[in-house]
Amino acid sequence: MTQIIDGKAVGEEVVARVKALTAELVGSGSRPPGLAVVIVGEDPASQVYVAAKSKKAKECGFHSLQHTLPAETTEAELLRIVAELNADPAINGILVQLPLPKHIDSGRVIQAIAPEKDVDGFHFINVGKLGTGELATAFVPCTPAGSMLLIERVRGKDLSGLSAVVVGRSNIVGKPMANLLLAANCTVTIAHSRTKDLPALARTADILVAAVGRPEMVRGDWVKPGATVIDVGINRIPAPEKGEGKTRLAGDVAFDEAVKVAGAITPVPGGVGPMTIAMLMANTVTSAYLAAGRKRPGF
Ligand code: GUN
Repeated sequence: MTQIIDGKAVGEEVVARVKALTAELVGSGSRPPGLAVVIVGEDPASQVYVAAKSKKAKECGFHSLQHTLPAETTEAELLRIVAELNADPAINGILVQLPLPKHIDSGRVIQAIAPEKDVDGFHFINVGKLGTGELATAFVPCTPAGSMLLIERVRGKDLSGLSAVVVGRSNIVGKPMANLLLAANCTVTIAHSRTKDLPALARTADILVAAVGRPEMVRGDWVKPGATVIDVGINRIPAPEKGEGKTRLAGDVAFDEAVKVAGAITPVPGGVGPMTIAMLMANTVTSAYLAAGRKRPGF
């Protein structure tokens, strides 16, 4: 029987641990973890994500701050706000929601965030720590970190001898995912749009991660029998079967086909999605523990 990996349940376990750690920290006389979320412009998907992040932060007992800025905000103004949050001792995590409007250089803004408050794990310091295997002190981007926890649930922490194929080479998911798998002793291949015979390569994977943003691109015959399949995609597609003009969410994997071949697979929704927010909370409470001079809690 194929295991359907329940990201909602694992995400809730992570959030329960975050709440317990927060209560412990506050009980010992420290201030609560503080998370600042900054959004610029009116992108509807970003607004939904940001609202969910702020709500979860409050549920965890955090000090939660949201800056909602108009699309015309200048880069200088955004950099001023980041500098203010860097200097604010009540804030342990700063998240600037991407994408930013075109007139703002997102790279410059991300690199302006203090690395010790970079709970997205996008700062060069954290990217470099992950790339050199310094996982004990790095902040790891939330989606790959959450995907890794799901993989560990199925395969354990040491993935020695397993081959992993990551489809997608983004800085937010593909590259950090590959580095995490490498740190866990997988033999890792990163595939992308220029890869030759992607289906054949995918079929070599004991662990197959799809992070391309193309609905149902990974078909059932791309999956090695018994493989662990992690679907990072969240795509909204037309669903005429539900009625005219209706839509549904689809991953980057054709679930109905892949589920017949895989050993374990994440559904969409309810797989990787809930893990992303949970890991943001985990990174923020971790930052607060470090700021309070406490030992880094593990997840
Ligand atoms: N936009 C889409 N995903 C993310 C993310 O993980 N972090 C930030 N800051 N923006 C995003």
